[in-house]
Amino acid sequence: MTTAKCGGGAVLVVGGYGAVGVTVTRTLAGWFPDRIVPAGRDLARARRLASEVGSGRAARVDVADSPGFARVLEDNRVGVVVLCVEPPDAAIARACLAGGVHLVDVGASHHLLAQVDALGEQAAARGATAVLSVGVAPGLTNQLARRAHEEVGGADRLDVTVLLGSGESHGADAVRWTVAQLAVPAERRAGGGTRPRRVALPGYGIRTAHPFPFSDQHTLRRTLGVPEVTTRMCLDSAPLTAALFGLRRAGAFRAARNSYARRVLTSALTRVHLGGEGFAVRADAFGGDRHAAYALTGSAQSRVTGLVAAHVTRRLLTGGLPAGVHHLDQLRDLASLPENLSRYGTTLWTPDALQAAS
Ligand SMILES: NC(=O)c1ccc[n+]([C@@H]2O[C@H](COP(=O)([O-])OP(=O)(O)OC[C@H]3O[C@@H](n4cnc5c(N)ncnc54)[C@H](OP(=O)(O)O)[C@@H]3O)[C@@H](O)[C@H]2O)c1
Repeated sequence: MTTAKCGGGAVLVVGGYGAVGVTVTRTLAGWFPDRIVPAGRDLARARRLASEVGSGRAARVDVADSPGFARVLEDNRVGVVVLCVEPPDAAIARACLAGGVHLVDVGASHHLLAQVDALGEQAAARGATAVLSVGVAPGLTNQLARRAHEEVGGADRLDVTVLLGSGESHGADAVRWTVAQLAVPAERRAGGGTRPRRVALPGYGIRTAHPFPFSDQHTLRRTLGVPEVTTRMCLDSAPLTAALFGLRRAGAFRAARNSYARRVLTSALTRVHLGGEGFAVRADAFGGDRHAAYALTGSAQSRVTGLVAAHVTRRLLTGGLPAGVHHLDQLRDLASLPENLSRYGTTLWTPDALQAAS
């Protein structure tokens, strides 16, 4: 196994002033002053944040322009890119890894992560590391699933549940992603045949969660070798969850396959704040007659996603991660992340704690 070269150079945080990116920029700037370069299409916003965090540098970057992106990497002597926006394809990842630049990607779309997975050999040959499935879901869900899987001695089935706070100001890019997933027709949906599930989430009682195309259910089949993995989602508001998935069943989001309707719906949902900011994730593993579950609860999933990305990046900058392309659940060096996040107000629920709470 090749160990990645230590992350020298600047850290380019693409989407660095967005809902996720702002936490990445601020947290990393506290640890590595002068090395953090927030970036996005609005240079003035990037510069304002750079000066707030005491970094002298900011950059204008458009992930739809890969030649321009490659120039930014070179001009700023970038050693690590933290990608906090969904790019159109894998061209950005390719530009990083071909140039020996490490990549931390918070993306949640399976088709894009699969394209980056395919760059593993190229990354290893250049001594570069890409860490995918970084955040809450995917991310912490992958790590909880691994723990539950190992607890039962190898699962035949994994059920992952994600509860999101409908009162949180989710970023526009994250809401756009959610709307795009709601618009996927039933026959093309991952786990399209699987049913909603009633599940106990600490602090929220027993909730109905609906199959939803988060990337972790695809990744975990491969990284853990579990044949059946389903990720389900609900909101903290039960009536809003019922309305949202009732509308999806009725095909009401079909119009959102058209880009104008998608923009209108994204903008409307960005303004809906009916619940709180809390979130919960839970992974249940079933193996023979054994069952184990882990959960994690906290507040502001965008912020916690940014914290996960910042901790992964710190690990890359200080060395020790293997070269190549990895998902968070494959990196043993980062396995204690769910415990380490408790200083930011998250709670990890072990099987015993979950049992006691139910
Ligand atoms: N893994 C997880 O648990 C998790 C959790 C939450 C979110 N996410 C993912 O994180 C990403 C960001 O979400 P968010 O909530 O932070 O969204 P957001 O608040 O809309 O932030 C997106 C950022 O990217 C920038 N951006 C947009 N288009 C760009 C482009 N073409 N080139 C360069 N920069 C661009 C935006 O600034 P400009 O528009 O000014 O360029 C903004 O700074 C989404 O892909 C979402 O799916 C993952």
